[in-house]
Amino acid sequence: MSFLLIGDLSQSTLDPAGHGAAQIADLFLWMLGGGVLIWLIVVGLAVYSVVVPGGHRPRLTKTLVIGGGAVFPTLVLTSLLCYALAMLPELHRPPPEASLTIDVSGVRWWWRVGYRTGENQRVETANEIRLPVDQPVEFKLTSEDVIHSFWIPALGGKVDMIPGRETRLKLHPNRVGTFRGVCAEYCGTAHAQMAFDVLVMSQADFEQWLRSQKRDASEPSGRAATAGRELFHRKGCGACHTIRGTDAGGRVGPDLTHFDSRLSLGAAIKPNDADNLRRWISRTHDVKPGVQMPAFERLNQDELDSIVAYLEQLN
Ligand code: CUA
Repeated sequence: MSFLLIGDLSQSTLDPAGHGAAQIADLFLWMLGGGVLIWLIVVGLAVYSVVVPGGHRPRLTKTLVIGGGAVFPTLVLTSLLCYALAMLPELHRPPPEASLTIDVSGVRWWWRVGYRTGENQRVETANEIRLPVDQPVEFKLTSEDVIHSFWIPALGGKVDMIPGRETRLKLHPNRVGTFRGVCAEYCGTAHAQMAFDVLVMSQADFEQWLRSQKRDASEPSGRAATAGRELFHRKGCGACHTIRGTDAGGRVGPDLTHFDSRLSLGAAIKPNDADNLRRWISRTHDVKPGVQMPAFERLNQDELDSIVAYLEQLN
């Protein structure tokens, strides 16, 4: 199959890393094989009928119509149908009880992600989902505005996120790696820039990561970062963003408590580094047209550097 796998595979349904995705990929490849077989035979017979000497035409036409046009496709399509039907019980069988529940809500144009870590306890993050390998996980999906659709092509099928309703999706990743999730339902201006990173990790790495996410934000160290925290509050960033352990408790935008531990920013559209962060804060709308966050164009270089220094310590 490698001929089909060209370029970046992090978003490919044909390079599955989960049980659901593997079944879908198998089904697709068998259907493709069956389709190619039918096409080859039908075209082969058509070519043959053109080049064969005229005297044999009547018998040949009968053979072509009955054999190539009816019997052969019926056989191939029936076997493909049986193959697909045999897969149904497997697809409908409830997966093993999920050991992990993750709440994800779609917001124009980013993802709020909450890990349930105990009775009424939740750790919130954004635009990045980390999962332990070989563990079934259940997603509870909702939307805070319009219909979005949650899809991690390498792990399984997609499910719509509907305002006022909770939909569910169980996935079972079976390979460590970094994959890409996307919004699969047109939801407005920045729909194409509403993505997220998915990191499937070993159980031990996952637990260590979750422990670190439960902690409040660390105190800034150094003059720039301390000034950055002061500025973050003075500019009102906390009205939209939460940084646990500080006064910032806004719920409009992504939780930034461990912002620097994330791979990307702006809902997985740019690598999370200082230059991109500077551009994001000062020229937000150039980076992501339609984004709800106002651009802070009036910050001078020092102010911008200090806010970036603060955010880069949130790991
Ligand atoms: Cu959200 Cu498209």
